[in-house]
Amino acid sequence: MNVLVTGGAGFIGSNLVRYWLSEHPDDVVVTLDKLAYGDANLRDCLDHPRHEFVKGDITDAELVRSVFVKHEIHSVIHAAAQSHVDASISDPLATIEVNVMGAAILLEAMRLYGAGDGRFHLVSTDEVYGALGDQAAFSEESPYAPNNPYSASKAAGDHLVRAYARTFGMEVSTTNCSNNYGPRQYPDKFLPKMICNAAAELPLPVYGDGRNVRDWLYVEDHCRAIDVIFHDAPSGAAYCVGGTSEWQNIELLRMLCAQLDERLDRPAGKSAELITFVADRPGHDYRYAMDASKLERDLGWTPQVSFEDGLQRTMAWYLDNPEWVDEVSALLAARK
Ligand SMILES: NC(=O)c1ccc[n+]([C@@H]2O[C@H](COP(=O)([O-])OP(=O)(O)OC[C@H]3O[C@@H](n4cnc5c(N)ncnc54)[C@H](O)[C@@H]3O)[C@@H](O)[C@H]2O)c1
Repeated sequence: MNVLVTGGAGFIGSNLVRYWLSEHPDDVVVTLDKLAYGDANLRDCLDHPRHEFVKGDITDAELVRSVFVKHEIHSVIHAAAQSHVDASISDPLATIEVNVMGAAILLEAMRLYGAGDGRFHLVSTDEVYGALGDQAAFSEESPYAPNNPYSASKAAGDHLVRAYARTFGMEVSTTNCSNNYGPRQYPDKFLPKMICNAAAELPLPVYGDGRNVRDWLYVEDHCRAIDVIFHDAPSGAAYCVGGTSEWQNIELLRMLCAQLDERLDRPAGKSAELITFVADRPGHDYRYAMDASKLERDLGWTPQVSFEDGLQRTMAWYLDNPEWVDEVSALLAARK
């Protein structure tokens, strides 16, 4: 089977490409990515005999058509996105173009040029459900209530997937997942930014009072969830995926700082001195939490990596890969 992974040079996509190549020896993975952050995440996979890479934009309908035809794409795992909430606030239309039109163009290409009766899987987010108070968790029954252009654009993608299944009988599935963490996440996101800044003794900026709560899932556990849903869930299924691992941003950061002090031989409390509180993000959702019990009940998935272990692994990966950090940070700085 030839599987198109969009956004395969991104954080989740590059972990998924590696996962898929190792777990599915009969599949060829075709990555389509415009390399918004360069190819550092995929360089070591470019020569893999079952991996083909296409540099290109998912909003370019002609290019997407040619990828489907040339590579005889059977199934799609769609992970490309403008994935940054702040960028969606500073330039909403750019985010909407990629996340809404991009999804529509891929669905249309799959409908018209897909090879056979493959599946279209959308990698979506818990943010489509809006914000929670202190109690309860989102489930598959929660109403959509996105609060920023990023989450609204992702919600539109979810609806398009559903509509293509209902209208055209396309085989589809969706994962709405909580915050992922792990290797190869770009340092414009919370956890890698904090690790990289703390290592370089730079300020650790925290929005508002830092009490916003997020549920965290190690990226490999997300890849396993996508795999099991892609293969075993009925068409049209959408699953909430989460780590049942909720942390206030500030709690998480203090824990990380303590681990960094130990690893970098700093006096206890040294890294936490770098924490600085900055003006809150507009429309900042207070809390997200996912109830992934349906996925456990239906398909037996549970997270395998504990938060403590995942955080150690993640911190170690960034500290052990300074060339990656320098290369990607230089790209991000050049963009500003
Ligand atoms: N990171 C998370 O915590 C999280 C949680 C739930 C869902 N998601 C979803 O998972 C997906 C991947 O997120 P991520 O964190 O890996 O993001 P990322 O920003 O690290 O990666 C996105 C990738 O998409 C590519 N891309 C962007 N626009 C493109 C375009 N127009 N054409 C082709 N490629 C394009 C980028 O070059 C990048 O490689 C997104 O759809 C996101 O909404 C992420």
